[in-house]
Amino acid sequence: MQPLISTEELAALLRLQGNSTESLIRYVSTEREFGLRAKRVLGRKFKERDLPEILPEDWDEHNTEHLVWHANLYSLLGDAEFARILRSGTKNPIGFSELTVRKAAQKIRREKIRAANKARPLNIEDIKNVETYVADLTTVVSLKRGKAMAVITDPPYEQQALHTWKELTEFADRVLVEHGWLVAMSGQHWLPDVFKQLEKGAKSTSMKYRWTIAVHTPGGTTSQDWIGLDNPLNVEWKPIIVYSKGDADKWPDKFRDFLLSENERLVVPDTEPRHPDEQPIDVFRRLVELFTKPKALVVDPFLGGGTTGVAAHQTGRTFEGFDILKENVAMARANLKRNRRA
Ligand SMILES: C[S@@+](CC[C@H](N)C(=O)[O-])C[C@H]1O[C@@H](n2cnc3c(N)ncnc32)[C@H](O)[C@@H]1O
Repeated sequence: MQPLISTEELAALLRLQGNSTESLIRYVSTEREFGLRAKRVLGRKFKERDLPEILPEDWDEHNTEHLVWHANLYSLLGDAEFARILRSGTKNPIGFSELTVRKAAQKIRREKIRAANKARPLNIEDIKNVETYVADLTTVVSLKRGKAMAVITDPPYEQQALHTWKELTEFADRVLVEHGWLVAMSGQHWLPDVFKQLEKGAKSTSMKYRWTIAVHTPGGTTSQDWIGLDNPLNVEWKPIIVYSKGDADKWPDKFRDFLLSENERLVVPDTEPRHPDEQPIDVFRRLVELFTKPKALVVDPFLGGGTTGVAAHQTGRTFEGFDILKENVAMARANLKRNRRA
């Protein structure tokens, strides 16, 4: 049986009550108490006779309906808050392991994107000089718009994807003009391996390491936490690795190797999904402006939610980007439309 109170209503309840998320999550995990609480708060809506239905009687932690409901809640709360709750001492507050809920939430997000895509036409031909498509960096053959002044990107963060850094260097060598730039944001965790892979790629190409820029990320996120959820690390900066094709002509004007971010985000309505690894748009605008001139071609082979594309478009550059996942390309196209240059 489906719970009577939907995850959206629960989120509204959270806001309405100014309750700490932890306390509400606790209500969720002890269903009777939550039912009573919900009844008190939404008195008119949940009458006495409805109470047993607020949460199912057969509260079974392996029940798929429950998992879906929890996962929905998780997608509403977002990664950071969910992780914070798990760290805050409420052990496994919702009865499933974090990984199980995360996986279910990802599936729900994908389904939402798929449903949104059906309703939305995929072409963005009305945005000039921007091209996006589905492709795999390891097999993509050629670029459609010619040679790039810069590849500005944010490769996947997982250990299994480390090999893409080698492939990225080889790709950059193929698509860049002489003296062009490869500018890639990295996580901290696998940094030694990231450099190993980049150098592997550089060996057979004319790509050369130039510098590492630090981007200050305000607020300190914990998404790169690898020591343990009970021992979080506040990540306050991220490296951006810079290679050039052949010898760099010269450093770009006004080049500084420390960037401050206001953590500005793409405009995305609450009802629409965001890419889980979406980067601040102000950082990518700054990088595009630093490394390229107006009208130059900027390429992002790991398009994600399209942050680099939006940055390139807003600053009057030509852009070409792709992602291995169709739903990400669709999301990037929607973001390009919503965030187009004024
Ligand atoms: C860290 S995310 C990029 C996020 C993006 N910067 C943003 O702000 O939304 C990396 C992206 O690379 C994509 N990806 C992973 N492997 C790929 C491959 N071999 N070829 C193309 N895209 C790939 C993933 O689907 C993911 O969307």
